[in-house]
Amino acid sequence: MQELNIRPSGTEGRTYSLLGVDGALSLTQSQNSDLFAKYVNPGLKTLLSLVGFDRAFTRAQGIEIYDEEGKRYYDFLGGYGSLPFGHAPKDILEAVDKANVRPNLLQAQIPALQSALAHDLAEITPGDLEITFFSNSGTEAVEAALKLARGAQGDGVFVHCEGAFHGKTLGSLSVGGREKYKKPFMPLLSGTVQIPFGDADALEQALKSNKVAAFIVEPIQGEGGVMVPPEGYLKKARELTSRYGALLILDEVQTGFGRTGKMFACEHEDVVPDIICLAKALGGGVMPIGATVATRKVWEKAYGGLSRAILHTSTFGGGARACAAGLASIQKLVNENLPAHAAEMGEYFMAGLRTLQSRFKTIEEVRGKGLLIGLEFKKPVGGILDVLTAGAINKVSEEYFAALVAGELVKKHGIITAYTLNNPNVMRLEPPLTVQKEHIDYVLNALEHILAGNRGFFSLAVSALRR
Ligand SMILES: Cc1ncc(COP(=O)(O)O)c(C=O)c1O
Repeated sequence: MQELNIRPSGTEGRTYSLLGVDGALSLTQSQNSDLFAKYVNPGLKTLLSLVGFDRAFTRAQGIEIYDEEGKRYYDFLGGYGSLPFGHAPKDILEAVDKANVRPNLLQAQIPALQSALAHDLAEITPGDLEITFFSNSGTEAVEAALKLARGAQGDGVFVHCEGAFHGKTLGSLSVGGREKYKKPFMPLLSGTVQIPFGDADALEQALKSNKVAAFIVEPIQGEGGVMVPPEGYLKKARELTSRYGALLILDEVQTGFGRTGKMFACEHEDVVPDIICLAKALGGGVMPIGATVATRKVWEKAYGGLSRAILHTSTFGGGARACAAGLASIQKLVNENLPAHAAEMGEYFMAGLRTLQSRFKTIEEVRGKGLLIGLEFKKPVGGILDVLTAGAINKVSEEYFAALVAGELVKKHGIITAYTLNNPNVMRLEPPLTVQKEHIDYVLNALEHILAGNRGFFSLAVSALRR
C-alpha cells in the first residue's frame, strides 16, 4: 500500500500506526477502497465497483453530494430512508449542538432528553401508543418489539410475511422473509410462521391454527421491493389480530415519519397497532436512533413493576444527542408539513414514472406511496452474452439488474439510487422529503435518456463489466 498519512503514537512501549481522523480524511479514494477491501468487506467492495458505486464523495448538503472533482450528484437513495431532510440539515445539527451541554450518556439516572422525546412520540403516533423504548437502529427497534410482545403475551408464535425485511440481527432475521439472508444462520428463533404478504385469509388461517403472540408486518414492504398491499389489508389485520388475541406489531422503520405522505403509513387506513417500530428518519440523518412505542396496556404486561423494569435495556439507547436529533426532526416534519409535501411530490414523481412505463417496456411496474417508490424492471435473460462472458453477466444480472441501471444513472447523470435488498430487480427511489419538482424532473429525464438510448440489458451489463 502507498504511504499513508500515518501518525505514530506509543502506549507502554508499543507503537501503533494509526490513521486518526486527519489521516482518514486525507486518504485518496483508491487507498480508502483498498482499506475497505482489506479490513471491512472484500466481496462488497467488488460488488460496489462492478456497478460503479465506488466514487469518492467529499461534500454533501441537502439533496446534493459532490465528488472530489466538484461534480454534483442528486441523492435519490436518501440513506435508505434515513435522510428525511437530506445531508447535514442545519437545524438538526444545531439542535444536537444545543444538547451538548447535557451529559450525553449517563446511565442509572433519569436521562436528559428521553422523556421529552417519548412525550413527542406519544403525541404524533396514532391512537393510544404511549410508552417508548429507545435503541440505536431499526433492527433493535424490532428486537425490542418482539421481546415486548413475548413478555406481554407469555408465549405464542410470531407470524410474519414472505418478502418482509425487519433487520439482520437473529430475532429480526427470524421474522424476515428472504431465505438468502436466513439460510446461513439456521437455526433461527423457533416459533415463527410465514404467510404471504397482503393475504388476509392466510393471516386468519395462521391465527386459527396457532397460538400467536404477534403478527409483525410492514405497512408497505420497503426492502421487499416496495410492495403495497391491497387496500384494507392493514385494517383487516388489525381486526383479525384483535379477534384472535394476538398483538399487531407494525414495522414503520422505513415508512414512518412522513415517507409515505402521512406521518405514519398506518394512518392511510386509520389503523392503530399495539406496538410500532421506528428508526431511520427519526435521527434526522444525523444521529442513529431507534424507538419502539407501545400501548400502556401491552407495556405494563411485559415490563410493569420493579422486578421487570430492567428486563430490556440498551447502553446507548436514548442518549441526549440522539434524542435532540429526534426532537428536532419531529418538530421540522410538523412545522414544515413535510408529510403533505412528500404526498404531493410522490404523486408527481409516480405520474412521470408511469408515463415512462407506457413508453418503455423494460419497466415492469411503478409502485409505492408518497416518496417510497419502486421501479421494477423486467427480468433479463443472460443467454448468449453469458456464454461469451463466462457467466459473468449472469452473475451480475440475475440479481442486480436494477443496480446496473443505477450504475448508469450515477455515472452518466450524477443521480444516486440503489436496489431493494429483498428484491434486487427493483430500483428504489427514496429522496429526502424536502425534494423539489426540479430534482424529480431531472431524474425522469435521465431515466428517459437511458431507456430511449436503446441501451438494453446486454449493453448495460457489458458497460458495467468494462468499468
Ligand atoms: C422495515 C425495516 N425494518 C427494519 C430495518 C432494519 O433497520 P436497520 O438497518 O437500522 O437495522 C429496515 C432497514 O432497511 C427496514 O426497512
